[in-house]
Amino acid sequence: MMTAPTFDPAGSDGTVHDAPLALITGASRGFGRELARSLAADGWRLLLDARGADALAETATELGPAVWAAIAGDVADPRHRRDLAEAVDAAGHLDLLVHNASSLGASPMRRLADLDLGAFVAAHATNTVAPLAITQMLLPQLRSAGGTVVSLSSDAAVEAYETWGAYGSSKAALDHLTRTLGVEEPLLRAYAFDPGDMRTQLHQEAFPGEDISDRPLPEAVVPALLRLLSERPGSGRYHAADLLAEVPR
Ligand SMILES: NC(=O)c1ccc[n+]([C@@H]2O[C@H](COP(=O)([O-])OP(=O)(O)OC[C@H]3O[C@@H](n4cnc5c(N)ncnc54)[C@H](OP(=O)(O)O)[C@@H]3O)[C@@H](O)[C@H]2O)c1
Repeated sequence: MMTAPTFDPAGSDGTVHDAPLALITGASRGFGRELARSLAADGWRLLLDARGADALAETATELGPAVWAAIAGDVADPRHRRDLAEAVDAAGHLDLLVHNASSLGASPMRRLADLDLGAFVAAHATNTVAPLAITQMLLPQLRSAGGTVVSLSSDAAVEAYETWGAYGSSKAALDHLTRTLGVEEPLLRAYAFDPGDMRTQLHQEAFPGEDISDRPLPEAVVPALLRLLSERPGSGRYHAADLLAEVPR
């Protein structure tokens, strides 16, 4: 379902807006919403998605005219991905694509011996296949803009943790696809971005019943990604902690 676009590409003065456009998946809460808030404040136009229409609409209402469109749907659904691509077509350009929507596979998470294969496939469909499919659809616009693709990664993509096999393997594959994109598309920047632990719903679902109040809030991590976007180092895998260490306070 698509909410009415709030961005008039031929503005009231008849000129075409030249604000950069970012598509952020999973922007109704957590890191995606905080990133959307920061980009809106920096003058970006936003195309946002999430499955839950009410929470997404709340985010879109809060961000107001910065939101070009907010489309509720599941990134694993090819029809929803087509809706996103149509919205980008309507906007006429795309400068930044952020693959943020993610699934743990199951909560509580399971050891491989007990892992439901349906949950494994679902995690890969959301975390790996969907970002690849969305990137494929939007490459022409990203190439024209010399744009940036960011994939939210995890230390679980690199380290093996008990019960994290479905999620970790999907993030490892996403990392690899993102780094391959960087090699294949020299006009773009492609970043696998490891945010570190954040106090969010996904993190709480990974640690059900545990007190996660010592984890940083996502707004503390967003400046690391903003630094990547502004400095545009070479494509590759980056840790928020390394980038934050050098962010001026
Ligand atoms: N939090 C951490 O400690 C941590 C650590 C390392 C990496 N990360 C990564 O950081 C990213 C953001 O995570 P977060 O912690 O901010 O999670 P979060 O607070 O749970 O937010 C996830 C967002 O994605 C949306 N979403 C989930 N599945 C979706 C789907 N299939 N299609 C469309 N939207 C979907 C959610 O809305 P709906 O549920 O309504 O769809 C929500 O807006 C993820 O890629 C995660 O793997 C997080």
